[in-house]
Amino acid sequence: MATITVKDKQFSLFIPASEIQESIKKVADKINLEFNNEKPLFIVILNGAFMFAADLFKHIKLDCEISFAKLASYEGTKSTSKVKKLIGLAENINGRKVIIIEDIIDTGITIDNIIQEIKQQNPKQIKICTLFFKPQALQKKVEIDYIGMEIPNDFIVGYGLDYDGQGRNLPDIYKLAE
Ligand code: IMP
Ligand code: MG
Repeated sequence: MATITVKDKQFSLFIPASEIQESIKKVADKINLEFNNEKPLFIVILNGAFMFAADLFKHIKLDCEISFAKLASYEGTKSTSKVKKLIGLAENINGRKVIIIEDIIDTGITIDNIIQEIKQQNPKQIKICTLFFKPQALQKKVEIDYIGMEIPNDFIVGYGLDYDGQGRNLPDIYKLAE
């Protein structure tokens, strides 16, 4: 269907599942090549990246470990400062080559927080992999190593990404209809 309703908003079809899968295969090929003979630790950031991760790993041929972490937001003492912390990460990262798997990088604030958290545990290397990237929205200086697709500054839903908790199960990507 070309137009759908998620919760209380209209969304129109933007990126069909087949195109998403093609870009995932390209990302996987690149990682396979660059990490040949390495044993990276993938860290999937929940919730949004679950579907991307599941499809990506089907193409990863490396000896690797896969772990999952979630971001917890804490309200700081000042109302403006919001500190995000990674929870659920049990693996010892010390000296490891880490690849962070994200669904989307928008302002870059979230991934910047994640990088700072992981750096504290002394990894050997951190690489960033995101399915979607909105270059026009970026506010932080982050180096992204693997990008599935660059997209304009529209709000999207589907394929793991939600609008207010809904729409994650859609196999295609929809964008907010004007
Ligand atoms: P950032 O911190 O602004 O880079 O945003 C990253 C997070 O915001 C992502 O992990 C998503 O959870 C959410 N997000 C950003 N853009 C979208 C979108 O277009 N649709 C759904 N979620 C989004
Ligand atoms: Mg997310």
